[in-house]
Amino acid sequence: MFAMTTRHYSPADRVIGHIDNALRTIFGKPQITERANPAADIADAKLSEQERQRVAGLMRVNHAGEVSAQGLYTGQALTARLPDVREKMERAALEENDHLAWCEQRLDELGSHKSLLNPVWYFGSLTIGAAAGVAGDKWSLGFVAETEHQVIRHLDEHLAKLPPQDEKSRAVLSQMKEDEAHHATVALQHGGAELPGPVKLMMRTTSKIMTTLAYRI
Ligand SMILES: [Fe+2]
Ligand SMILES: [Fe+2]
Repeated sequence: MFAMTTRHYSPADRVIGHIDNALRTIFGKPQITERANPAADIADAKLSEQERQRVAGLMRVNHAGEVSAQGLYTGQALTARLPDVREKMERAALEENDHLAWCEQRLDELGSHKSLLNPVWYFGSLTIGAAAGVAGDKWSLGFVAETEHQVIRHLDEHLAKLPPQDEKSRAVLSQMKEDEAHHATVALQHGGAELPGPVKLMMRTTSKIMTTLAYRI
């Protein structure tokens, strides 16, 4: 779908593309890259009921985070001034779809569900992303980099909370962490600026609310 953000498409095509992406993100199957699920060849370990519920809560948070990532990228693509910024972040946005699919698959395997608040996360993030895009490309890219840095810290916490035998979830989160670090680097290389302290704090507070709610709902 992100091919639709290139300059060969009319604004109407782009709007339809964004609506399609929103629906796929929230309700359907997102378009993924050629990469395989990193947990595909790993055997499922035995988890107690308590462990299963804890891992499901963590994976639901990560899935909701990836729904938010799609909202952010789409919001930014709607308002970004430079078309090449959109194109440069295209691969990153597609990789977020991989993350979305991997987290969803893990939730299925754990017999659990996605966050019921996903539409809220998506449209809330879309609004924030659009605002970042309006602020200008250096802020928009800076925002991506800061988001990724916060996600990496949060993935580290989740990796520490996983039951040691749950290699499947570990493989997914480890690959995500590697990808997010790369996305942050790409955003900074393309001119992302360091965000002011209060903005970073606001982002941390918002993500705290989201992760607390998505763990349960
Ligand atoms: Fe991601
Ligand atoms: Fe990312």
